[in-house]
Amino acid sequence: MGPLNATSYETVETDVLVLGAGGAGLRGAIAAAEAGARVVIVCKSLLGKAHTVMAEGGVAAAMHNVAYQDSWEVHFADTMKGGKLINDWQMAEIHAKESPDRVLELERWGAVFDRTWQGRIHQRPFGAHTYPRLAHVGDRTGLELIRTLQDRAVHTDGVDVHMEVTVFKLLKADGRIAGVLAYRRADGSVILYRCAALLLASGGAGKMYRVTSNSWESTGDGTALAYDAGAQLRDMEMVQFHPTGMVWPAGVRGILVTEGVRGEGGVLRNKEGERFMERYDRERMELSSRDVVARAINSEVLAGRGTPHDGAYLDITHRKPDFIKRKLPSMYEQFLKLANVDITKQPMEVAPTIHYAMGGVRVEAHTGASTIPGLYAAGEVASGLHGANRLGGNSLSDLLVFGKRAGEAAALAAKSAPKASEARIDESEIDEAIADLMAPLNRPAGENPYKLEAEIQDVMSAHAPIVRDGPGLKAGLEKILELAARSRASGTGGANTLAFNPGWHTALDLRSMLVNAEALLRSALEREESRGAHARSDFPETDDKLEGINFVVQKTPGGMQVKAERRTPMPEYLAEAVHRSFARYTPEATE
Ligand code: FUM
Repeated sequence: MGPLNATSYETVETDVLVLGAGGAGLRGAIAAAEAGARVVIVCKSLLGKAHTVMAEGGVAAAMHNVAYQDSWEVHFADTMKGGKLINDWQMAEIHAKESPDRVLELERWGAVFDRTWQGRIHQRPFGAHTYPRLAHVGDRTGLELIRTLQDRAVHTDGVDVHMEVTVFKLLKADGRIAGVLAYRRADGSVILYRCAALLLASGGAGKMYRVTSNSWESTGDGTALAYDAGAQLRDMEMVQFHPTGMVWPAGVRGILVTEGVRGEGGVLRNKEGERFMERYDRERMELSSRDVVARAINSEVLAGRGTPHDGAYLDITHRKPDFIKRKLPSMYEQFLKLANVDITKQPMEVAPTIHYAMGGVRVEAHTGASTIPGLYAAGEVASGLHGANRLGGNSLSDLLVFGKRAGEAAALAAKSAPKASEARIDESEIDEAIADLMAPLNRPAGENPYKLEAEIQDVMSAHAPIVRDGPGLKAGLEKILELAARSRASGTGGANTLAFNPGWHTALDLRSMLVNAEALLRSALEREESRGAHARSDFPETDDKLEGINFVVQKTPGGMQVKAERRTPMPEYLAEAVHRSFARYTPEATE
């Protein structure tokens, strides 16, 4: 076969382009279309297949249906306290105030939530939420949310969906976003999307780790594309290990075991049968924040008290079988089918699994605007709300609240921006990007991309684990930079065809994973303290001087740069809400 060098491409024009069809993308698309914009949603996978479904246990909103004492102030304080105070407090305030309305709206759109005996939406307890706050649909809440939004989106005028399309370059004209280049995964054909505004809603980068709840799509494309276009990233050192993923059989390692199990009373034990959370958070026990529970399991394993596959036992057998099957139907089926374990009779074996990126594109709190005009971000790809650690259930409310806001803002921006068809996109930039896209196909002898992907996962798992240290992070960074150089010469691992070529797709995914990995390692090196999900054995204490600091990542001519930036302090009424919360209880006393 001669060199592949596609010069032709199809052009699609729209007002707002949405990258990603998870909860944030769908909610953003609905909002933008309702504001009068023509919207195209582009997704790498199939509509409905998104990491959103992995938020199983519920959506957090202070509706006080179960605990009348709950309020937006307490939800705000829990979120800030969980995020170890480096959250964007404006986002946390907006989120706490608006999430109840977004949940009720979802219900009006057809979501069928579990009910209290009075007929209200039921809310279950979850880690580090002061009150039962998670509206839920058994343990399939994310799925119900996606199903509802998908139904709404496809019935909203002006929304079109392009599935199995991967975006590989953001394009600007006169300093603002003017379009993207993408290829169809089925046949490799290239599409130039011209748009007046772009909403990134492409999720996280869990696939850069070996053990993760994330599926193959989560390679951090949105973060990497935004970085490459010059946008700032923030809090990239903060990645969440969900405390409970499956560990056995080996093929299912990492699959999520919902926090809903603990919300419904499940307890954690080590191999000696001891309820070890007493040592780490005596008051909240299994419902401590995720960073604390994940580290606790890790510590038990390191102390030789782990289960046969290096985890802990999660036991809910003290609940009645009917209760378990009604409240946790997916967990019941998942363990029975995948591990031959009946959770009504036997404990589950679990261990931490990479689940969520708190860091991502830096956005303005009210609109989701990035630092590039015309570029917006919402959901996991955006940063700010969760700070150093996300509370369970806050991701679903995050994507509803900020998906809507970013969709509206993008639609508004599209109205005042130059028409998509008129923006002067540099043709040579398009040619260059397409040449880069095709390059792996023209290197039959290039290194196998699957091998490189596995090496990235090994490096990140070994060098940026639950508890990190400076020398490990530094060595990890060196390895990632070396892998980046090798990946620039990678091939496709076999077939050199444009049609259905997963080796080629993987070679392209490497670029995204490597940007995310480098940003994580560089930011983690800069944060010389332990805070939330970022635990360093060489800096085990939390440094009060770093409380007001976020680390911001940006592309410069000299390479990736990380700089410390000071946040504006919270106003007094919010600071007081947080102080009241710390006065109630602080887990560090027992960790
Ligand atoms: O455990 C879970 O159900 C996950 C929820 C979340 O990540 O928000």
